[in-house]
Amino acid sequence: MTSTTKATAVEAVQLWSARKVYGTGDHAVTALDDVSIGFLRGTFTAIMGPSGSGKSTLLQCAAGLDQPTSGKVVVAGTDIGALDETARTVLRRDHIGFVFQAFNLVGSLTAAQNVELPVRFAGKRAAPADVLAALAEVGLADRVHHRPGELSGGQQQRVALARALITRPDVLFADEPTGALDTTTSREVLRLLRGIVDRHAQTVIMVTHDPVAASYADRVVFLKDGRIADQLVLPPEHRNSHPAAIAGHMARLES
Ligand SMILES: Nc1ncnc2c1ncn2[C@@H]1O[C@H](COP(=O)(O)OP(=O)(O)O)[C@@H](O)[C@H]1O
Ligand SMILES: [Mg+2]
Repeated sequence: MTSTTKATAVEAVQLWSARKVYGTGDHAVTALDDVSIGFLRGTFTAIMGPSGSGKSTLLQCAAGLDQPTSGKVVVAGTDIGALDETARTVLRRDHIGFVFQAFNLVGSLTAAQNVELPVRFAGKRAAPADVLAALAEVGLADRVHHRPGELSGGQQQRVALARALITRPDVLFADEPTGALDTTTSREVLRLLRGIVDRHAQTVIMVTHDPVAASYADRVVFLKDGRIADQLVLPPEHRNSHPAAIAGHMARLES
């Protein structure tokens, strides 16, 4: 194996000198300023930083939902800038899952129908047993036929997780997935995210404001003004136990 293929084999996602500029001229905003970072397979990374520091932009570019103005993004060994929109859509569909703060479930569909959506978008049908297994994995085997309006916020976010995971994506991107949840339900969702990394060696990249949420990760990356300002590696024995240390790093960034 050459060193090049080896490198792409261990990195689920890589950004090389990624810059993202919104607007032009006097209105130009540099949301990402020369960011280079890799995300190893089977790891959980939290991305933190003040509001407007570029967290969502980093996630959108890393997930191929948006394109950097310059630089390169490699997902599952593929330079996504070299793909046309159709190929990029297929790559996202086959390798990437998303969870958002606002759940984004379809209100008229049941939990099971929501979970099946990504499979339908791929022009296939999910076996009912697979849909049930996905809902069981997030603890909702008894809510299969409920619609989002009949579920709590935490349950809705777990449906969204099951929907993101049914395609077994290499990488799950989550933008403030616990932002709308109370402490107890946040923990359930965070434990599930930790579990997919530990049990299925999937990769999770999560934006969060919450030091407790970030403490479930293996690493915290701090952004400021579109640049990586700091990183903190959390050894397994320190996991979930040092939100204060993470909060301290955040406070230094914001000062
Ligand atoms: N679609 C857009 N058009 C113009 N400016 C944008 C757009 N999206 C984000 N920005 C700007 O880019 C910067 C980074 O935004 P964002 O990535 O959303 O930050 P964060 O998620 O850390 O709050 C901010 O200054 C924001 O105003
Ligand atoms: Mg954001």
